Amino acid sequence: MDQFLITGSSRIAGEVTISGAKNAALPLLAAMILAETPTTLHNVPSLQDVRTLIALIGGMGIHIQKQGDTVTCDTKTIDNFYAPYDLVKTMRASILVLGPLLARFGEAEVSLPGGCAIGSRPVDQHLKAFEAMGATISVENGYVKAQAPKGGKLIGCNFSFDMITVGGTENVIMAAALAKGTTVLGNCALEPEVVDLANMLVAMGAKISGIGTSTMTIEGVERLHGCEYSVVADRIETGSYLAGALMTRGDVLAKNTSALLLTPVLEKFEDMGAVITTGDDWIRAQMTGRPRPVNIRTQPHPGFPTDMQAQLMAISCLADGTSTFIENIFENRYMHVPELNRLGASIQVDGHTAVVTGVENFTAAPVMATDLRASMSLVMAAATAEGESLIDRIYHIDRGYENVESKLRALGVNIERINSNN
Ligand code: EPU
Repeated sequence: MDQFLITGSSRIAGEVTISGAKNAALPLLAAMILAETPTTLHNVPSLQDVRTLIALIGGMGIHIQKQGDTVTCDTKTIDNFYAPYDLVKTMRASILVLGPLLARFGEAEVSLPGGCAIGSRPVDQHLKAFEAMGATISVENGYVKAQAPKGGKLIGCNFSFDMITVGGTENVIMAAALAKGTTVLGNCALEPEVVDLANMLVAMGAKISGIGTSTMTIEGVERLHGCEYSVVADRIETGSYLAGALMTRGDVLAKNTSALLLTPVLEKFEDMGAVITTGDDWIRAQMTGRPRPVNIRTQPHPGFPTDMQAQLMAISCLADGTSTFIENIFENRYMHVPELNRLGASIQVDGHTAVVTGVENFTAAPVMATDLRASMSLVMAAATAEGESLIDRIYHIDRGYENVESKLRALGVNIERINSNN
């Protein structure tokens, strides 16, 4: 298992080019299953999760390949509608193939994702919506078996999600795109990645109105065709690198991204004392003094994203005062707290609330990455701490940050990958 050795005390400064968003690329790859003619997707990041989904789709007999940042897909040769446990267990977003398979081929068998480090993360809302569209769903031996009604087509319906779910909204709009009749979906997620998916579906011939609002209306069409599309910039990767500037009195220019995608995060950066300047496709964060404390509540978009909670917490560890965090999306997303405390932070957790008492500096220590975003908070903290920190279990970071070491090095971080098998 690889580890990062970080020699700290860096000032994080320089330019970084932002990749396509993992959380948009995954549903867009799943949507390729819906097209009867070839689809080309650009700006696809090279990440473990992307490789997993490509292997999953390829395992269905579909011709799919990635060259550089472009994925091409031709579904003509599909010969099964099966997503095995071995792949699904490594990535929960695999469940996103269920909607497209069911809608286009009338059947699917997809391993039920298990829980994960940040919470139990059920998929009941996805399944409830498919049932409302007439599907018969059963869970047998750990697999979801789904069958469309007689005639092989899902049927449009009115459905409102019990809670806001990004993956649920994505799975169901893909299914509704090929359903018979009109689907009106209420309480939809508004995340930019959901909007990106809806826009790609429209480019494939889907009829969707209300994109970017909580009610989407999808008029099912007979078939979808391929298209050429480019994945939206990764707002979480953007925010993660900009966070480094706030922790080190640094200066980071993130290119190939958009300030419109991360307004709630940039507002908090400004509250913490950063000077933020933006252009059409870039954001710059400059920081001089110690960060000011903040209060953060994670919420569905356009609220503050849970995927930036750990990184903001790492900044607030160095703030001149006490910050409060309330995590509203996942029940167990404070796994980084004991690790940040090992690096010298002072954080106390009570249920969904974490109280952070700012300290002057982090101190180097060996720590363990616990989930994708938590890993980034540890990397940034280690980069500021004087001395050497070894970060274990960095496979988490490889799931979601493309070329992370070279991007960090370009920003002045002294980071080395150690293969512990050597
Ligand atoms: N939920 C249910 N039932 C469902 C679906 C969701 O109870 O059927 C609950 C979840 O357990 C969670 C909440 O609703 O407590 C929100 O879950 P959601 O479905 O919105 O999350 P997701 O689609 O599984 C995506 C991102 C996550 C991100 C969340 C929230 C992808 C591949 N993943 O997950 O990204 O945190 O939305 O914004 O898009 C990450 O990138 O590090 C990451 C975890």
